[in-house]
Amino acid sequence: MKRLIAGMLGGLLVMGGAAAQTDKKPASKPAAKPAAQAVQAAPAAEVKDAATLEFEKFRAEMEDSNPAELFEMKGEEQWKAKRGPKNVSLAESCDLGKGVGQVAGAYVIHPRYYADANAVMDLERRVVWCMVEKQGFKFDDIAKKPFADSNSTPDITNLVTYVATHSKNMKIAVPLDDPKVRDAFETGKAMAAYRAGPYDFSCNTCHSGDGKRIRMQQLPNISTPEGAIKGVQGWPGYRMTGGVMLTHQWRMTDCFRQQRFPQPKYASDAIANLLTYMIGTANGLEYKGPGIKR
Ligand code: HEC
Repeated sequence: MKRLIAGMLGGLLVMGGAAAQTDKKPASKPAAKPAAQAVQAAPAAEVKDAATLEFEKFRAEMEDSNPAELFEMKGEEQWKAKRGPKNVSLAESCDLGKGVGQVAGAYVIHPRYYADANAVMDLERRVVWCMVEKQGFKFDDIAKKPFADSNSTPDITNLVTYVATHSKNMKIAVPLDDPKVRDAFETGKAMAAYRAGPYDFSCNTCHSGDGKRIRMQQLPNISTPEGAIKGVQGWPGYRMTGGVMLTHQWRMTDCFRQQRFPQPKYASDAIANLLTYMIGTANGLEYKGPGIKR
């Protein structure tokens, strides 16, 4: 199994070892090494500290006027507009598992298997697929800058935010009884446990105990439904650090970085598998829609 996953990761890496070794962000102060020690169990997992309470208060206030709405509105325009070399809209061509053009409830049934693409796809991957196959955009152009930064937000982020809004307050329902989805789940689960890299970290090093935290951040235990939903909730999310709208795929990619792994390829099997594991673990729990992250 280890070999299989290593091979799979290896095959999907964008720049392989080169990218891994030149860690662009040279250890923000004591970043890497002490991280292992910094991952420590808080004495009582459910006792919320002042900072957490303060943030939750702030988030509750912000959610009344969630900046995510701006991205959602843009996404709606882009969903409905005829765009791309083929000049068609996603609304008239893209099937997100609920029928062509339908967005209600689509976010919470992903990842799912699509026969037309012969792949298990998380929602973002599926929308990218539609943009390429139906509208004629080039995958490489989208993958060049798939995530927002302080200068710009890619269309795909707006679109994902728009679709996600239409699953607000719905129960997560990843179709785990589909054998292909089940396979992706199992691979994702093994990936989460796979230790490698300069610090021999796996996702689970940081995310499989209750009440773990790094510096100020509480780290959800993604191996339980209650923990997994915390890692699903609020994505896509408006991140106050940097003031940008980011997707669940971004979150996965950034945790590969924290893990000191080479970056996974955008919209790849690797990310879809991990998301299948994490979102599938949260099955049956309620998704509250795009949110705010600190
Ligand atoms: C070195 C420790 C570390 C490793 C390894 C790590 N993460 Fe994380 N993860 C974090 C930290 C720290 C945060 C919070 C970051 C923030 O909010 O700025 C986080 C956040 C997350 C979140 C979002 C939680 C939320 O509240 O929304 C998810 C989901 C997640 N990680 C999944 C993963 C997965 C999957 C992997 C394996 C590919 C992984 N992480 C590997 C440290 C780690």
